[in-house]
Amino acid sequence: MNLQKAKDALSQFPRLELGTLPTPLHRMSHLQAKLDTSLPLYIKRDDLTGLGPGGNKVRNLEYLLGDMVKQGGDIVLASGKNQSNLCALTVSACCKAGLDCIIFHNDQPPLQQTGNQLLNHLSGAHLEYIGSVTDQEREEYVAQYAQRLQQQGRQPYIIKNGASTALGALGYVHAMVELCQQCQQQELTLRHLFVPGGNGGLAAGTIFGAALTQAPFHVHVITVEHEVPILKKILEDFLQEIVQLTGQLDGFDFDQVYTVHGEYRGQGWAKSTPECIQQIYDLARIEGIFVEQVYTSKTLYGMVDMVRKGLVDTNACYLHTGGFGALFSQF
Ligand SMILES: Cc1ncc(COP(=O)(O)O)c(C=O)c1O
Repeated sequence: MNLQKAKDALSQFPRLELGTLPTPLHRMSHLQAKLDTSLPLYIKRDDLTGLGPGGNKVRNLEYLLGDMVKQGGDIVLASGKNQSNLCALTVSACCKAGLDCIIFHNDQPPLQQTGNQLLNHLSGAHLEYIGSVTDQEREEYVAQYAQRLQQQGRQPYIIKNGASTALGALGYVHAMVELCQQCQQQELTLRHLFVPGGNGGLAAGTIFGAALTQAPFHVHVITVEHEVPILKKILEDFLQEIVQLTGQLDGFDFDQVYTVHGEYRGQGWAKSTPECIQQIYDLARIEGIFVEQVYTSKTLYGMVDMVRKGLVDTNACYLHTGGFGALFSQF
């Protein structure tokens, strides 16, 4: 492993400390017993990033809001569906950092405040509901809103694409340095890491981070949204953007570091499967850990299924990316 190279690359970018890091890395011995395998199973607890409901986007926001502060921004604009984990975490991040923010939901106002909507309400968030428009229309609306704010003398900073940008993805390069350090401390050689692929930022940061640190594990990306070729293309583009941004790993063959798996996505984003729902009950009942329907149960099921089929040889780790707030709106 070569952690110094990754640390040096990251040090060029301002980072606002928002999370409680490192997140725990520990065994899941009850899950291992349930699967009746001698293969050690681990979990990296990014559901416990320590801000708001927790979850992966805290790491992206550390780099994005670090950039915003450097650029002199004075108001954050973020957008997503009503139950967006990114939106809820942006609200909590701005509360913690003392920043103004407006959240735009491409949804109708909810009849009942549940899940992340309740958290946003408790946090006193400024929420704008712009109706059931597409994600692209929503981003155009936010861009126009930002222009109007600028005309009023404000310095808006837009968080695009659910914080899945090359800069946001550095949060997962940082996470890979953290994971490698924990492995060194625990004298553990991880061989497989399972992560979700939605917009692709998390997976791209993880793959890039694994490559830059020369981590010993293979990254298994479980697509929860797009079909495999689409996500693969998104990841390839993202990886090249991160190469450009950091000036590292130009010409590197990232294909040797990761595989995208398509068999656990069901019918796509937020379309769960009975096997995934079963993971929610199982993990809660044997490990006391909650996963949700959109991202985390699909990824967990991917690891469980591959372990059962004997496709994973040794030390495997599940990256739990959170989504705890949204869980309360899903049943
Ligand atoms: C809980 C959770 N896990 C995973 C992801 C996937 O991240 P990405 O969109 O960067 O692929 C998200 C994205 O919103 C998320 O909220």
